[in-house]
Amino acid sequence: MTNVVVIGSQWGDEGKGKIVDWLSERADIVVRFQGGHNAGHTLVIDGTSYKLSLLPSGVVRPGKMAVIGNGVVIDPHALCAEIDKLAGQGVTITPDNLRIADNATLILSLHRELDGIREDAAANTNGGVKIGTTRRGIGPAYEDKVGRRAIRVMDLADLETLSAKVERLLTHHNALRRGLGEQEISHDAIMQELTSVADRVLPFRDTVWLMLDKERRAGARILFEGAQGSLLDIDHGTYPFVTSSNTVAGQAAAGSGMGPGALGYILGITKAYTTRVGEGPFPTELTDEIGQFLGERGREFGTVTGRKRRCGWFDAALVRQSVATNGITGIALTKLDVLDGLDELKICVGYTLDGQEIDHLPASQGQQARVVPKYITLEGWKESTVGARKWADLPAQAIKYVRQVEELIGAPVALLSTSPERDDTILVTDPFED
Ligand code: IMP
Repeated sequence: MTNVVVIGSQWGDEGKGKIVDWLSERADIVVRFQGGHNAGHTLVIDGTSYKLSLLPSGVVRPGKMAVIGNGVVIDPHALCAEIDKLAGQGVTITPDNLRIADNATLILSLHRELDGIREDAAANTNGGVKIGTTRRGIGPAYEDKVGRRAIRVMDLADLETLSAKVERLLTHHNALRRGLGEQEISHDAIMQELTSVADRVLPFRDTVWLMLDKERRAGARILFEGAQGSLLDIDHGTYPFVTSSNTVAGQAAAGSGMGPGALGYILGITKAYTTRVGEGPFPTELTDEIGQFLGERGREFGTVTGRKRRCGWFDAALVRQSVATNGITGIALTKLDVLDGLDELKICVGYTLDGQEIDHLPASQGQQARVVPKYITLEGWKESTVGARKWADLPAQAIKYVRQVEELIGAPVALLSTSPERDDTILVTDPFED
C-alpha cells in the first residue's frame, strides 16, 4: 500500500477529474498542493454533477478528509462560494472534512484585477506577452508569496499583524498601479475584504504538515491531487506560457509539507492526443479539419473559462520529458475513444531544430517556436472503443497505438479510460496497491 500523486503530463485538461475521483474512493485523505481556482473539473457521482475548482475532489465523498496544502493560493471569496454551492447540492463542508494549511497564501481582489489588467495590456502592446491566463489572480498572488509580502491564512486571525502586512503589500501594489495608470487601493478596502471572510475561513485552518505526518504514521492512504499539467510548470514548462506554480510531482511534497519519501506512486494523466488552452508553443497543433474533429469529438472547451482548446497529435517527446521531470511510475491514458474512426494517426517522436534532430523540447522560447515535429504514422481503427473495460474489447490497432505510446514515453499504462463514466476503465495496475 502506498500514497499516490496524480499529475497531468501535458498542458492540463488530461482528464484528471475522473481518475482522481476514482482513486479518491480508495483514499482516506485527498490533498491539493499547488495552483488555485484556475483548475476546474466536474465530478459525476450517482448522477449528480459537482463542479470543483479549489476544493480537493475527496470533499464530495463522505468520510474523506480534503486538504488544501500550503502550496495552493486561495481566493477566500471563491472558496466560500464553492463551499456554498456544494452546500446547495447537499454536501456539507466542515472542519471534519476540510482542512486548510495555515501557511497557504491568499489571493486578493487586487491580484485578480492585476491579472486582467496585464493580460489586456499585453494584448494591446507591441512586444507584450499575453499568456492567456484564467484571470483568477494566480500569478500575481504567487509573485507576492515569493516577494515575501503575501497575506497568508493565519494572518486573518491576527488583525494587528494583518494591518501591517496589508500596508506593506499596498506599498508595492499601489506603486505598480500608479505606473499602470490605475487607481490606488485603500488600506481600509483590503482590510474589509479580508475581515469579511475571516470567520468563515479560519475554522478550517490547520497545521497541515503536522496533521498529515500523524495520519501517515497511522497508516492513512493519501492521494495528492495535482492541477494543470507538467508543461505548464513554472520551471519545466513552456515558459513564459505557463502557470505560476510548480506542477510537477515533486511539488506534492513541498506544497503539503510532507517529505518526498511519502509520495509513492506517481500517476501521470495523459490524453491520447494533445490539447492546450491559452497562448504558447504547441509543436503538434492541428489547425486543419482533424484538429477541429478532435476538439468537437473530445468536447475540448475549458471548464473554468469556457475557452476553446487547441488540439493536436500526441507528442511522445513531450510526455517522455514529463515522465522524467515527474518521475512518473505509470500513466492513465484518457480519451482514446476520441481517436476512433480516423484513417491514420500520427505520433510525434522528436523534433528538427534548424536542421538538427533533437529528442526533447529545448527550454528556449525562440527554439520552442521553431521546432518541427518528426512523426511516425499508425493505422487508425474504425471500431468504437467507447466504454471498453478490458483489452479484448479494443480493436487491434488501438492496442498497437497504446503499446507504441508506452514504448515511446518509457512508462507503462496503469489505467486506460474509455469514456467519462467512472467504470469505463481498463485497470492494469492499482496505483495504491503497487
Ligand atoms: P494562470 O494559471 O491563470 O496564470 O494561467 C496560465 C496558463 O495556464 C494559461 O495558459 C492557462 O490557460 C493555463 N491553465 C491554468 N489552469 C489550467 C487548467 O486547469 N487547465 C489547463 N490550462 C490551465
